[in-house]
Amino acid sequence: MIIPHTIPDPDSYEDISDLSEWTNIQLSLEKRISHYQGDLGTQFSAHHMRVAADGLGFLMYLGYSVSACLNVKSALLIHDIGKTHDEYDPDIWDLPHRPSEAERAEKRLHTRRGLDLLNQAVHGKDIAAHPHIELCRAVILYHHERLNGSLYENRTDLPLWLQAVGIIDTFDGDRIKHPHQDHRRSPQETIERMMADKGDDEKYEGAFDPDLIKKFAAYKL
Ligand SMILES: [Fe+2]
Ligand SMILES: [Fe+2]
Repeated sequence: MIIPHTIPDPDSYEDISDLSEWTNIQLSLEKRISHYQGDLGTQFSAHHMRVAADGLGFLMYLGYSVSACLNVKSALLIHDIGKTHDEYDPDIWDLPHRPSEAERAEKRLHTRRGLDLLNQAVHGKDIAAHPHIELCRAVILYHHERLNGSLYENRTDLPLWLQAVGIIDTFDGDRIKHPHQDHRRSPQETIERMMADKGDDEKYEGAFDPDLIKKFAAYKL
């Protein structure tokens, strides 16, 4: 497995419009997500589209160039591709109960499995080492990282744009209602939980840059 140690700046290349070889691969990966088992494909696809839209919107709000925002948006359209890996039992994505620690650990493998799927898709192709593919690798592998360490790759040195990706993904993921919850969290409730400044829920204490999450709140609410 190729682990990306250096993370490209989304502004380090113009745009991806000349990557026709990649466009076809990206579309096939997006289709793999939308055609995943039963209703899950629809749910996964909707999550990817919302997160990609916020990737574009929030990074523009932060002042990144249009090219950089479009590059990140494109990568976000496949960030959870690992959830479609053949080694998963699809039932793990729609558990009727709060997941056990073993189930959480299994679900966490989706970032590495996603990297595997991406690497398989570009294997032997000229674009395999293109900065955009490196950027996709970073988004797939690092979108669950936390400033205070994570149970994924434990990278605490992520650039601002990738920290923003983590905030966007967490916001959307926390607003998806699971069978064991009695209601869907509101945007306000979700951001307060992520700021860890209200209530007893300390899940996200120290996870995000306080200034960045305030900017996300200003962008989103
Ligand atoms: Fe994820
Ligand atoms: Fe996600």
